[in-house]
Amino acid sequence: MGASSGTTDSLAQVGHVVAVGSGKGGVGKSTVSVNLALALARARARVGLIDADIYGPNLPLMLGVTAMPRSVGQHLVPVDVHGVRLMSMQFFLQGDQPVIWRGPMVHGVVRQFLGEVQWGALDYLIVDLPPGTGDVQLTLTQEIPLSGAVIVTTPQEVALLDARKAIAMFHKAGVPILGVVENMTAYQCPHCGQGSEIFGAGGGRRLADELGVPLLGSLPLDPSLARESDAGRPPVLVRPQEPLAAVFESITRAVQARLAEIARNRPYHLPVVDEAGGSGKGTT
Ligand SMILES: Nc1ncnc2c1ncn2[C@@H]1O[C@H](COP(=O)(O)OP(=O)(O)OP(=O)(O)O)[C@@H](O)[C@H]1O
Ligand SMILES: [Mg+2]
Repeated sequence: MGASSGTTDSLAQVGHVVAVGSGKGGVGKSTVSVNLALALARARARVGLIDADIYGPNLPLMLGVTAMPRSVGQHLVPVDVHGVRLMSMQFFLQGDQPVIWRGPMVHGVVRQFLGEVQWGALDYLIVDLPPGTGDVQLTLTQEIPLSGAVIVTTPQEVALLDARKAIAMFHKAGVPILGVVENMTAYQCPHCGQGSEIFGAGGGRRLADELGVPLLGSLPLDPSLARESDAGRPPVLVRPQEPLAAVFESITRAVQARLAEIARNRPYHLPVVDEAGGSGKGTT
């Protein structure tokens, strides 16, 4: 399905590749990706995580990783962190150096992350995308068949507007939308206990209804989440019994259920048998 032989070999034993995207920046894609990957690992799935934000990689920080990937021959071995195999551009940068690259170079590194990394056998490979609909998204959708995309948005109109663009891009590339995660919804004041909806309310539900896909979950605006993410302490890992982790766990179960549903409903095409009696590849 359009995959080059390197990527086909490297991803041969990967069950589902799931992209986490949005249109707008800073809405919580990386936070969702990290906690989704950790929740899957807690459920005993084999999980890989690609930090595909080439210009602004921050998953090693969010996961508190200090180790570096090893190389074996032509291949890189991802870093194992709390049962998740991680690959990030951050591993190849020195300090705060910015990445200043043109499209073709970005294309090259995404291909390498897919095709020259020893992913091994995985149930899920989660891809944390940068914001927008640029080179990374294009390469990813052209290079491999994605099982689906999770769309992250805040409830405000400006984020929804950008999310619709990302969704249109996935539609065009034939990638199923697994559902919408609404982030930074209600905020509860720690002093007076009063709730307020800083970025509005119900936007994620409206977007999901408009698309006819599930609202996978709604995450509250929680300052401790921002603090702990910066410190490499994701809630699913460090506070698994608390309500915030429970929301991530529930989002994770909803993603798994959607993947299973899409796989069940996928049309099955009989293998094409040519005149010489050989059979071409059946497509599903
Ligand atoms: N529900 C939340 N409550 C409080 N802070 C949050 C929440 N979700 C995310 N954040 C914080 O908001 C910031 C942006 O989140 P994150 O990096 O996950 O967004 P992103 O969509 O990946 O951003 P980018 O587009 O730059 O890749 C981070 O500092 C993160 O810790
Ligand atoms: Mg991010």
